[in-house]
Amino acid sequence: HLMNQLLGIKDDEKRLATHLEIDHCLVVSGDADQSSRVLDELGKTLNSTLQLLLPPGHLTIAVMGGTTMAHLASQLTFQLSAGRELSFVPARGGLGEAVTIQANSIAAAMAEATDSKYRALYVPENLSSESYESLIKEPSVKEVLTLIDKAQVVIHSVGDALVMAKRRGMSPDTIRMLKAKHAVAEAFGVFYDAEGKVVYKIPQIGLQLADLDHIPYVFAVAAGKSKAKAIAAYMQHAPSRTWLLTDVGATNSILTGA
Ligand code: BG6
Repeated sequence: HLMNQLLGIKDDEKRLATHLEIDHCLVVSGDADQSSRVLDELGKTLNSTLQLLLPPGHLTIAVMGGTTMAHLASQLTFQLSAGRELSFVPARGGLGEAVTIQANSIAAAMAEATDSKYRALYVPENLSSESYESLIKEPSVKEVLTLIDKAQVVIHSVGDALVMAKRRGMSPDTIRMLKAKHAVAEAFGVFYDAEGKVVYKIPQIGLQLADLDHIPYVFAVAAGKSKAKAIAAYMQHAPSRTWLLTDVGATNSILTGA
């Protein structure tokens, strides 16, 4: 309760957390679908929440990619690294995203904003299993994978299933399959339907959903009415200690089912 007081947890945040069966929700006003300023506001909220929650000392922070994450990066401040030594690492290998929103770029941007370090993970997609096996033995790749394994903090977003499938250039067949199975959400390369059932997984090295179980600080940031279904679907799998940072647009839609 003390933490709730410090963070000024409001009623709608409590209602959303109860509805999604997770411990913490923080809701900013507006709808990210209407204005990207809402994402900046989420970035500021993320910054102050990290400032309040993260312990001092050395911390490895694994980050995912995407447009939400790119916005957040611009709002982090160097005060975060006062008393802390932060290392940002991409949580997973490349997922076929444009360079600016790849996890590697987000890790670099967050490190720059907070005056800390980052490591990149250079693992292309569509590798033959032979090249893959030898690549993950490369010292530089192995080292980053070890860092990812030891991350105490994860920051990620949640995507709309079909938006993500198209953006990552998945095959027409796969997209048809996702539509047939009513996929609505994607997070960590896993696609879910509205009931939270897993309908497809993109094999990818790096952090997997199951790894979240041993990561103490998990932040999911996703906003806008258009992401309401995706958020609700993914949250059925999220560890309950997840901090969901979202907006009123998504919150109203999740709570009313509209
Ligand atoms: C990433 C997640 O952080 O955000 C993906 O790793 C998710 O799983 C994506 O789909 C969403 O991207 P955007 O552009 O909607 O923020």
